[in-house]
Amino acid sequence: AGLHAVARQAGKLYLGTATDNPELTTTAYTAILDNNQMFGQITAANSMKWDATEPSRGVFTFTNGDVIANLAQRNGQLLRGHNCVWHQQLPSWVTSGNFNAATLTSIIQTHCSTLVGHYKGRVRTWDVVNEPLNDDGSFRQDVFFNTLGQGYIATALRAAKAADPNAKVYINDFNIEGTGAKATAMKNLIRSLKSQGVPIDGVGLQSHFIVGQVPTTLVQNMQEFAALGVEVAITELDVRMTLPETAALLAQQKKDFQTVVAACQAVPQCVGITIWDFTDRFSFVPSTFPGQGAATPWDENLVKKPAFDGIVAGF
Ligand code: XIL
Repeated sequence: AGLHAVARQAGKLYLGTATDNPELTTTAYTAILDNNQMFGQITAANSMKWDATEPSRGVFTFTNGDVIANLAQRNGQLLRGHNCVWHQQLPSWVTSGNFNAATLTSIIQTHCSTLVGHYKGRVRTWDVVNEPLNDDGSFRQDVFFNTLGQGYIATALRAAKAADPNAKVYINDFNIEGTGAKATAMKNLIRSLKSQGVPIDGVGLQSHFIVGQVPTTLVQNMQEFAALGVEVAITELDVRMTLPETAALLAQQKKDFQTVVAACQAVPQCVGITIWDFTDRFSFVPSTFPGQGAATPWDENLVKKPAFDGIVAGF
């Protein structure tokens, strides 16, 4: 059975994957990607980011993003927009522009409303703000925060919601999957936004995990987010290991995928799960975490690993 079909059977909205434009020429890959019983939701891994969509101020390019949006539409898969505002993959005209507060606010508004507006009606959910927090729970000292304070988050959420009122607007981050300082800060941020009437529909838990280290407080933490009146999604799931892979590591990885899926299953407000690409051939892990990898449910040769069965078993 396909993973999305199993997720739907279990009452979840979707099981999805990230994908990226250069990968689409590999037919053994697209044969799996295009199966909407396997994946019911798609996230563009790169092609809707700021550097890809507004490389120069006021110059928008949606060519690669449109390829992903059209793929999802053709396949009958939900589309997740990723993302409006993030400190990485930002063009230097944003980071080095030395803009004053009024100008940077307007730049954020223009970027979010143009990007979200371009895909209006086609995206279920936007990761509007990505990675706003440091691990200690303080706000990340990026160009947005340094110029505007935390108000940039409300600015981005409002602009995105106004551009596509039917899209769910999320904040997405890593290391907020278990309880702790960073998750507490995210809860406080959501509470504060809600008290100001700022649109916030959900929180994305990226979930870039390490084998054997899925947080034991995942369910409790998701319940605490849900209690604030937002939905929750697992948005970038992978479970990496120090290479080389061994049978024991792959067996633990299977359990880890199962644990994460079962956690989402245990929380009604957890709407779905996205894996951050489904094959080790295209995973971002080895380039970002040297010496680590094998983080996804399909191996380099597009053969299913034990982790695939772990996902099925979790629902
Ligand atoms: C990653 C992409 O997968 C890579 O191809 C790119 O080189 C760097 O970004 N958290 C996020 C994603 O929110 O946007 C990142 O995607 C992975 C970590």
